[in-house]
Amino acid sequence: MCGIVAYVGQKPAHEVIIKGLKRLEYRGYDSAGIALMNGGLNIYKKKGRVNELENYLKDKNLDSTIGIGHTRWATHGEPNDVNAHPHYSYSKNLAIIHNGIIENYSALRQELINKGHTFLSETDSEVFIHFIEDIQINNDCTLEEAVRLALTKVVGAYAIVIMSKDNPDMLIAARKGSPLVIGVGKNEFFLASDATPIVEYTNEVVYLNDLEIAVIDNNELNIRTIQDIPMTPYIHTLDMELEAIEKGGYEHFMLKEIFEQPRSIGDCMRGRLDANNGRLVLGGIREYANKLINADRIIIVACGTSWHAGLVAEYFFEEFCRIPVEVEYASEFRYRNPVIKEGDVVIAISQSGETADTLAAIELAKSKGAIIFGVCNVVGSSIARTSHEGAYTHAGPEIGVASTKAFTAQLTVLNMIALRVAHSKGTITESRYHELLVELENIPSKVEQALKLDAQIEHISNEFKDSKNFLYLGRGYNFPVALEGALKLKEISYIHAEGYPAAEMKHGPIALIDEEMPVVFIATRDSSYDKVVSNIQEVKARKGRVIAIVTEGDALIPQMAEFVIEVPRTDEALMPMVSVIPLQLLSYHIAVMRGCNVDQPRNLAKSVTVE
Ligand code: F6R
Repeated sequence: MCGIVAYVGQKPAHEVIIKGLKRLEYRGYDSAGIALMNGGLNIYKKKGRVNELENYLKDKNLDSTIGIGHTRWATHGEPNDVNAHPHYSYSKNLAIIHNGIIENYSALRQELINKGHTFLSETDSEVFIHFIEDIQINNDCTLEEAVRLALTKVVGAYAIVIMSKDNPDMLIAARKGSPLVIGVGKNEFFLASDATPIVEYTNEVVYLNDLEIAVIDNNELNIRTIQDIPMTPYIHTLDMELEAIEKGGYEHFMLKEIFEQPRSIGDCMRGRLDANNGRLVLGGIREYANKLINADRIIIVACGTSWHAGLVAEYFFEEFCRIPVEVEYASEFRYRNPVIKEGDVVIAISQSGETADTLAAIELAKSKGAIIFGVCNVVGSSIARTSHEGAYTHAGPEIGVASTKAFTAQLTVLNMIALRVAHSKGTITESRYHELLVELENIPSKVEQALKLDAQIEHISNEFKDSKNFLYLGRGYNFPVALEGALKLKEISYIHAEGYPAAEMKHGPIALIDEEMPVVFIATRDSSYDKVVSNIQEVKARKGRVIAIVTEGDALIPQMAEFVIEVPRTDEALMPMVSVIPLQLLSYHIAVMRGCNVDQPRNLAKSVTVE
């Protein structure tokens, strides 16, 4: 949450920063601000989206080749101009942008107030910069040293960049628990929460590690740890195309990402799976592969949509690998006292690779001796780097806040991992193994077919756009799909929606059903089909409005359901990758029809780096 961008070089800094903030708006969009060295250290900030800031800057002289900028997702203090970043401290003329949370900020704030500091905002970040200033004054030290000393005392998470009026060519950055990437150009440097603001200028980046401080001064980058140990910056080459982070003719990123799925699922399998030769290789899982194969149980930790992918994986791993799986909300797992033994296997699933709860769950499991496998989309992200081994989903940048292509890519990776384990363990027959490899390879074309349902789903969406509630029901592999469909709808259209295992309906939710209630059944041909048909009858008997996702050619359900959406046939175990497509489209169209901001739904942020 919160996006930060900074620049120093020869270009007009505000242009690089505003463009970069727009790319990072998915991380937070309640206010934005920028600090520039244009005849002094000046700060401009505005409540609202980056566009509002851009309009506000129109008539200003912004002549500066160094600057810092921020787009905010409020944690401390409501979204307004004052609480927007950058924050400033007046004695030493310092400006800071901060992503993260300083947990001991109220004690620090009181301490600083007692010393005569006054604060304009309610934010922890303003306290942070005053704290640094206070240390610099009291110790009569350089800004770099003051930052270092401050970081040894603050508790919490941060990615920060600091500018100082007295050091007009210098940027100081540091991170702990929140991401920060440094782009290295020709006589210029870019800093950002992720690589998307950087990719159009350079593909050479340095991922700052936790508890490292980067000082960029006079065109030189130096990195030291907060223990003051010098580090050699390791330059990675980015493998990301500019067009991957643009809308490419679609009205919204979410729609583009939904339609990208045949490609993203294909990319995820490319070079890893070749059904013809029975080849399945995951290069990122080697040294610890036997830990997975011999695991007594697997714990999956994740949040939100990634947690739903974990639930599907539970069915898959248990069925084919015969390994018990527990799927945990990372936020709960980290705060109980979970039973973890040395050598336990944990799979952490995260699109962003930065989710604070998932990271904390990993740290906890690691501290107890667990082996961590990461399934992440963002290359070089914190979770990817902190895991022992893992497999990237290679879905490409996901910009829409609601996760779509990341989900299907996560399922693809998890299925491949499970098949690899099952094959090595001998818990799957050769013929079933080959059948699933072939079917997995066919999934992109099945998803392509499912996407052709778009116009029909738009029509159905029009019918239900004013509904107040929705129920999503499915069984077996399609139960997590029901949860995912409900989550997609509520997060982007603000309609209350619940997902349930269809058989649970009779234990409570059935009371909600009346002639107003849309009930989406994911009722594809599988082992629980007959049971789901009975559940549809139960809803019909109470006059509920049934929308059914069925397998093509289904003759029975069309006689009962008001609306039927036919998806292509595939293996029951792989169906979630296909059956989720109409649900993504349904939520998208309903949200558009209701005038909602699909890509940046209210109160949400793409990367949840606070707990
Ligand atoms: C839903 C959504 C969120 C994320 C969750 C975890 O559409 O995007 O529920 O799935 O915040 O994020 P990652 O996968 O980045 O750890």
